[in-house]
Amino acid sequence: MTYTYHNPTLIEFGKEKIKSIFNYIPKDAKVLFVYGGGSIKKNGVYEQVVKALEKYESFEFSGVEPNPTVETMNKAVKIVKEKNINFILAVGGGSVIDGCKYLAAASLYEGDAWDFLDGTTQPTEALPLGVVLTLPATGSESNCGSVVSRKTTNEKRFFFSPKVFPMFAVLDPSVMITLDDRQLSNGLIDAFVHTCEQYLTYPNDSLLHDGYSETILKGLITLANNWNKRDTYHWQENLMLLANQALNGFIGSGVPQDWATHMIGHELTAFYGLDHARSLAVVQPQLLRVMFEDKKEKLLQMGQNVFNIDDAQKTIEKIEELYHSLEVSTNLNDYEIDDKVVSNITNALEKHEMTAIGEKQNITLDKIEQILTLTM
Ligand code: NZQ
Ligand code: ZN
Repeated sequence: MTYTYHNPTLIEFGKEKIKSIFNYIPKDAKVLFVYGGGSIKKNGVYEQVVKALEKYESFEFSGVEPNPTVETMNKAVKIVKEKNINFILAVGGGSVIDGCKYLAAASLYEGDAWDFLDGTTQPTEALPLGVVLTLPATGSESNCGSVVSRKTTNEKRFFFSPKVFPMFAVLDPSVMITLDDRQLSNGLIDAFVHTCEQYLTYPNDSLLHDGYSETILKGLITLANNWNKRDTYHWQENLMLLANQALNGFIGSGVPQDWATHMIGHELTAFYGLDHARSLAVVQPQLLRVMFEDKKEKLLQMGQNVFNIDDAQKTIEKIEELYHSLEVSTNLNDYEIDDKVVSNITNALEKHEMTAIGEKQNITLDKIEQILTLTM
């Protein structure tokens, strides 16, 4: 096993931690406070952030949409440049955070920053970024990934850069009181699939990684089984911690990783607007069926250690049942698609040079076509 692991994001976890941002944002910073469509005005987060920023020169930018776009974030880049802003504070879910990672890097880049998304170039610098998380799901609060869309071309792409690791992230579970069932189930499923992408591959030699992943998976299943307690602090606190650990980089370091479900799911969102987690719930079970021969050893292990069953095929059924128990459909026909869905997705993956994906790079376009056909 060989890997490099570095996660520089400081975590402030717990009630009433929002005010602690004052300890980390330099006193002379000019701050851009960025948020989404306004949910933070319904749960007291906005007021807490405004209070914490009281002594700073700060500006606001709102309206970052779910699945953030360059079209929107480039407006923020303009403000950063005009006002000489030197600190970005993202207050929201994965979309606001990802949009701000793009913003932090794009603000110091001379060209069209879509270059980061299409892989033409890597950011060499970025403004410092702080995060107040309001939706546990993506792990974006303490990782260096950013997923951004371009509306004009129906594209949803990503970049990774150590330059955009948040400097700090506040995880206060009490901000979750305003999350509806749709976002809570999305968050739980996204974290579940993140763990699977780094675990459901082929056996590895680590005594730690699999155990850690299995603990996360079991924790998420326990939360799904206790769905009626989802408005309790204890339930919410656990989702926030589990989702964070599912994608802060550790469980995937040094072990095989898949991510094909995400690559296919991103294209579904780009074309048809499915919520990120729902695109994953549609793709993953069928991908596991099509790739069964490659994944059967880990499926059996997951069955034994997570679901307490001795059958690799049944593990896939259990995963699908989990999504159904959260009232999330795994049938693509339940979403607003059209008859071009298979060709749209496979053509987009081809354009994005994702024609051999998965842990063995053997999920080719014909397999993706098979997977998508099974989802309908
Ligand atoms: O915009 P506001 O008004 O804040 O409303 C949001 C949004 O409508 C709302 N929300 C957030 N916190 C809330 C709340 N509503 C009530 N109470 C609160 N406390 O929830 C809606 C969805 O928010 P969004 O940020 O889009 O959700 P999520 O956190 O699931 O992020 C999804 C995005 O992250 C990307 C996805 O592709 C998608 O674009 N991902 C990022 C990853 C990363 N950077 O590592 C990895 C993931 O796999 C994923 O691809
Ligand atoms: Zn995800």
